[in-house]
Amino acid sequence: MITGILLLHYLTPSPLKYHHAVYRILFYLPLILGSFWFGVKGALYVSIAVFFLYFPYVIMEWQGFSFRDFSRVIEGALYISITCILGFLTERERARHAAALQAERFAAIGKAVAEIAHDMKTPLMAIGGFANQVFRKLNPEDPNRKKLETVIQETARLESMVKEMLDFGRPLTLDRTETDLNDLVEGTELLTSPVAEEAGVDIKTELDPSLPLLLLDKARIEQVITNLITNALGASSKGQTVWIRTRSTGPYVELEISDRGTGIKQEDKDKVFQPFYSTKKSGTGLGLPIVKRVVESHGGEIFLRPNPEAGVTFTVRFPPDLKS
Ligand SMILES: Nc1ncnc2c1ncn2[C@@H]1O[C@H](COP(=O)(O)OP(=O)(O)OP(=O)(O)O)[C@@H](O)[C@H]1O
Ligand SMILES: [Mg+2]
Repeated sequence: MITGILLLHYLTPSPLKYHHAVYRILFYLPLILGSFWFGVKGALYVSIAVFFLYFPYVIMEWQGFSFRDFSRVIEGALYISITCILGFLTERERARHAAALQAERFAAIGKAVAEIAHDMKTPLMAIGGFANQVFRKLNPEDPNRKKLETVIQETARLESMVKEMLDFGRPLTLDRTETDLNDLVEGTELLTSPVAEEAGVDIKTELDPSLPLLLLDKARIEQVITNLITNALGASSKGQTVWIRTRSTGPYVELEISDRGTGIKQEDKDKVFQPFYSTKKSGTGLGLPIVKRVVESHGGEIFLRPNPEAGVTFTVRFPPDLKS
């Protein structure tokens, strides 16, 4: 399109000023389309291309600076500003649309998951309960003990998955109280320490004593910390350390869980927050989506970055208005 308009300019004799005025207005078309299709970047690229390709024509026609040139400069600046604004607005609208679409998808998945999980809960409780009853009555030497033990263990695992699925499907209502985040971290670390011991991974904390009290839903944030620690432990190998840090940075309070484990590839950075994305044999893939939902419902944000040596750091950032 740009080439076509330029050809019209270069091939039309310059005394036909009305023609040229119309051709100049035609430049709006590629500029608008560029910004609409490719955002601010597209607007800038098309503006630069038009500027450099049209410039030789201006030089060819140059007869000293006149009022007409002044209005052309103003016109050019107007072209660029309008297309950049259009590019910016298009980008913003697209981001909003994507976020709304994702929220809608999450809500639909949540509803379906809750219904399935709800129907699975009762039969699972019956299987687990009866299996336990039979297990207790079995002779210690009975060869079926081992098999029944597996049934009980696997049912417990399914029950915890169903609980996670039900949690995910439920609308989130927060019960916020004044909370010392450091206390909560220490309590949760204690709860997860048997899992850490079993994995042979050390959990170390570095807690900022100057942290202000925050208005948090204790049980939900405990769930956030547990899920993040469990993931970090799962990704670490024997002898490694998982770090939990809290700190006050400017107006924010941050919680960081960092490991030296398998890490997350750049292309999977967003996928890990999607429901049911899991690389584990027995994972549900709801841990991080729940974490994200809880953090965002507190007005906070969560992001991850790879560690220079190995592993990944998840940062939860709480907004200043949570300070009590
Ligand atoms: N600290 C980590 N290091 C490496 N990979 C991670 C880490 N945390 C999460 N992941 C990746 O993100 C995926 C999704 O995590 P998420 O917690 O949502 O589900 P999950 O742990 O697989 O299952 P579950 O629902 O039981 O938590 C994991 O399967 C894993 O591939
Ligand atoms: Mg998990």
